[in-house]
Amino acid sequence: MNIAIDGPAGAGKSTIARLLAKELGLRYLDTGAMYRAVTLEALRKGLSLDDEEELVKMVTSMDLEIVFGDESEGNLLFLGDENITELIRQPEISSQVSTLSKHKKVRDLVSSLQKEIGKSGSIVMDGRDIGTVVMPYAEWKFFLEASVQERAKRRKKQLEEKGLKVDLAELEAQISERDFLDKTRKNSPLIKADGAIEIDTTSLGIEEVVHKLLGLIRED
Ligand code: DC
Repeated sequence: MNIAIDGPAGAGKSTIARLLAKELGLRYLDTGAMYRAVTLEALRKGLSLDDEEELVKMVTSMDLEIVFGDESEGNLLFLGDENITELIRQPEISSQVSTLSKHKKVRDLVSSLQKEIGKSGSIVMDGRDIGTVVMPYAEWKFFLEASVQERAKRRKKQLEEKGLKVDLAELEAQISERDFLDKTRKNSPLIKADGAIEIDTTSLGIEEVVHKLLGLIRED
């Protein structure tokens, strides 16, 4: 079984996808983490996030490893021997990853890896173009939404739990900017895939959404 979960930043996709995978005994892939890892490497190398050709060269020679981990930790990402799982969640990466992920050639490289992973067995994948590009054949496609205000609140809480202080209004502005870039880019923009079930999670807790999705899947 393949399940595609798309939606904007902070709609709860990653947590919901991970819990769903655990309940159904499937693998889980956080595709946004891959774009974040590429962004981290590009910033470390001092590359311009607008220089598509240099970015492509870098991605081609990057030593990125994804470990499927257990359901509590989700995916672990390594650059060579370095565990970058936490580093890629830094606000500096969040604010720049959409600039990098607009490039067609970069997307082609990253999404071809995701397609291969998808073809290798049952999986729950979350991202922006899973139902449209990476696994258009998925039996289940969900599109999770939530208001910008609620998504900013959730992100603030997550970051505070990690000891990072952030301003709510600033976070709201950043999320709106990322929504705009992700939805308006030319190459595989964030849109609801044909046949995807849309769920507004603004007033729902994580468990409620997981319960709802499991109900739909198990009823079928
Ligand atoms: O899910 P996330 O917030 O970690 O994703 C970070 C960024 O990566 C997102 O703003 C756009 C990009 N992304 C993408 O373009 N396609 C995907 N399938 C997943 C993420």
